Amino acid sequence: MKLIVAITGASGAGLGYRFIKKLPSEVEVFVVVSDNAQTVFEKEEEITVYENSNIAASIASGSFKTDAMIILPCSMNTLAKIACGISDNLTTRAASVMIKEQRKLILAPREMPFSSIALENMLKLSKINILIAPPVIGYYAQPKTIEEMEDFMIGKWFDLLGIEHTLFKRWE
Ligand SMILES: Cc1cc2nc3c(=O)[nH]c(=O)nc-3n(C[C@H](O)[C@H](O)[C@H](O)COP(=O)(O)O)c2cc1C
Repeated sequence: MKLIVAITGASGAGLGYRFIKKLPSEVEVFVVVSDNAQTVFEKEEEITVYENSNIAASIASGSFKTDAMIILPCSMNTLAKIACGISDNLTTRAASVMIKEQRKLILAPREMPFSSIALENMLKLSKINILIAPPVIGYYAQPKTIEEMEDFMIGKWFDLLGIEHTLFKRWE
């Protein structure tokens, strides 16, 4: 599987890092990060990392085959741009490619509370089969640490992507 992971300027960028670290080795990952996050990923040898300004990167083209993209966390700014079809950086361009090619796109919007504008943007995108999957804790998993809470959410995103995992105990 070829997976694009974009980390935008919403609170919870650490969750994006943890998500990538938990991915199984058979997933080929392409990461788009802000300048600040760039240095962290440069140390990870097997991860392809692009700057958000690199609009000429492979994932900006529909002819480069990828299977799915997740934006984690997704800021309201990036959400609004995607909902309007704006492609002014690598994250929004790659997302618009996923939409036009009808490939799987997952957004993890992080805001509290959501404005009516953000909710309308989410509804618009949901209606064209984009998965709106915000970072929401499942209390039935009885998490005791922040890491356990994050693993539950990461497991839910892996489920949406069809990635096998044992990150949380399933309800039976
Ligand atoms: C410390 C900090 C936390 C922020 N948290 C959020 C957030 O949780 N959600 C959000 O939508 N924007 C948040 N923002 C605002 C975004 O960073 C801002 O709208 C930015 O323009 C997003 O750009 P991007 O979508 O290109 O990443 C935060 C900003 C700062 C400085």
